[in-house]
Amino acid sequence: MSDTYAVIGNPIIHSKSPLIHNAFSKQTKKKIYYEALFAPLNGFTEAIKIFRQNNGRGMNVTTPFKFNAYEISTQLTEDAEAAQAVNTLLFDNNEIYGHNTDGIGLIRDIVTNLRFTITAKRILICGAGGAASGIILPLLKENPSTLVISNRTVQKAYKLKDQFSSFNNIIVSNNNMDIAKREFDLIINATSTSLIGKSLILPRNIFASGSLAYDLMYSNKQTPFLKFAQKEGAEYLSDGTGMLVEQAAESFFLWRGIRPKTKEIIKNIRNGS
Ligand code: ATR
Repeated sequence: MSDTYAVIGNPIIHSKSPLIHNAFSKQTKKKIYYEALFAPLNGFTEAIKIFRQNNGRGMNVTTPFKFNAYEISTQLTEDAEAAQAVNTLLFDNNEIYGHNTDGIGLIRDIVTNLRFTITAKRILICGAGGAASGIILPLLKENPSTLVISNRTVQKAYKLKDQFSSFNNIIVSNNNMDIAKREFDLIINATSTSLIGKSLILPRNIFASGSLAYDLMYSNKQTPFLKFAQKEGAEYLSDGTGMLVEQAAESFFLWRGIRPKTKEIIKNIRNGS
């Protein structure tokens, strides 16, 4: 029987993870069984228990359970600890290993796939929720010149800055007027606005020449954030499809010890196949 893996979330119906991991399995000839698991909002721990009883080996964790996964992990990686969120679980004997591959996925997409250098660049992260906290440490490790965190609820942005107090290049923005005085080379939308079809209100003239606008959301239509960025003259635009596939590839590597090739799969997911 193949080893069993799953993605767990609520909702889960639109998840592309089964498609991606089945493609990895075929490509690497490592047989796995991968399913999408829906759990009630208060049913995460019970779902994990049943999955483990049925010899489940590992899981991807998506909204809204990344913090629950962090809490149940008995061993945490530095990225998971920094993000206080876990998107990949590995069950081994009595241990639950908690990883966070979102940040690595983002960096691999930006640096390797899009060939955009982060080092010495000015970054703006919009949002200070779960998605933002997962990407801050990996971005800081690329040595940007500054990293501005801007959030509608400014206290949450300050909390993130405090979490990474050993870095002295983080700036919290109080409001859009503050951002308006600056230009950025990389602007990342880590708010949930694209998910709910809303526009993120940003000041004009903040995209520097040669800048990259990156929406963590993936969508087959251009997101409102990317539309705005295009109008504002951002040179490069990307949604989160590449990050989605790259974070999955890292999970697959943690589980199976082999890192799948991603280029074709990113292209297929973008084309909706
Ligand atoms: P996720 O796990 O997707 O990050 P989250 O933790 O609920 O979800 O965070 C959602 C983020 O989107 C937050 O930064 C939120 O801002 P607040 O902290 O002020 O709530 C941001 N967000 C959601 N709707 C927004 C909107 N209409 N305009 C600006 N920011 C928004």
